[in-house]
Amino acid sequence: MKGAAYDLLGVTRVYDGRRVLSVRELAVQEGEILAVVGPNGSGKSTLLRLLNFLEPCSAGEITYFGRRIEYPPPLDLRREVTMVFQRPILINGTVRDNLAYPLRLRSLQNRDRVEGLLAQFGLERLASASARKLSVGEYQRVALARALAAFPRVLLLDEPTANLDPYSVALIEGIVQSVRAAGRTTQVLVTHNVFQAKRLADRVVMLLEGDVIEAGNTRHFFDDPRDPRTAAFVRGEMVY
Ligand SMILES: Nc1ncnc2c1ncn2[C@@H]1O[C@H](COP(=O)(O)OP(=O)(O)O)[C@@H](O)[C@H]1O
Ligand SMILES: [Mg+2]
Repeated sequence: MKGAAYDLLGVTRVYDGRRVLSVRELAVQEGEILAVVGPNGSGKSTLLRLLNFLEPCSAGEITYFGRRIEYPPPLDLRREVTMVFQRPILINGTVRDNLAYPLRLRSLQNRDRVEGLLAQFGLERLASASARKLSVGEYQRVALARALAAFPRVLLLDEPTANLDPYSVALIEGIVQSVRAAGRTTQVLVTHNVFQAKRLADRVVMLLEGDVIEAGNTRHFFDDPRDPRTAAFVRGEMVY
């Protein structure tokens, strides 16, 4: 029986005296894909940074697999969670170096794993290429492959396919689905793309100016949203 990967209770984040995120209650279920949608500046990336333990919340509590998180959490726990940032930064070196890096950090054997990832992500031809010379789509595929290399317990994705070529979008969506099918990794996917949320997510949360205005399973979210602003968003009428 699976439980919650995260439980957020009364969580807020304040920057320079301004509250940019306020989550009264939110659970992320183990093994699910939770999509977080909402306009620019609604707090999506801030929420991911809190889930990634990169910064403390200003108030409230975050429970991670039943453990109340005190900031900063211990390294072993932080290493269970990986994030693909909106603008990921690869290390200087080859594609293969980048994929081996998280494994080396954890002293894990890496040869077979790296070769497997190269194949899975369509990167074999680029294994020895400098990460600096990649196209945007290739770069983002390397960033996701690196995030998955050490079998994270939680994968946080911040707009992973924004501005990518259709091949990379399809490949990345397929990998997110296969991670979901394997069932061991919980995924939180921030996306601007309503259709992507519909294709991939088990549940969807909508943020507006830092507030959760809707949260529900994907079908319910799209077919029968409670909030008129969600309905507008789903119809593609929300301007941002
Ligand atoms: N480190 C920071 N310092 C000050 N303000 C920030 C910081 N990070 C984010 N913000 C502000 O918080 C709000 C939410 O930002 P963000 O979480 O990046 O939104 P989204 O990812 O939904 O576009 C924005 O108004 C942004 O300017
Ligand atoms: Mg963002």
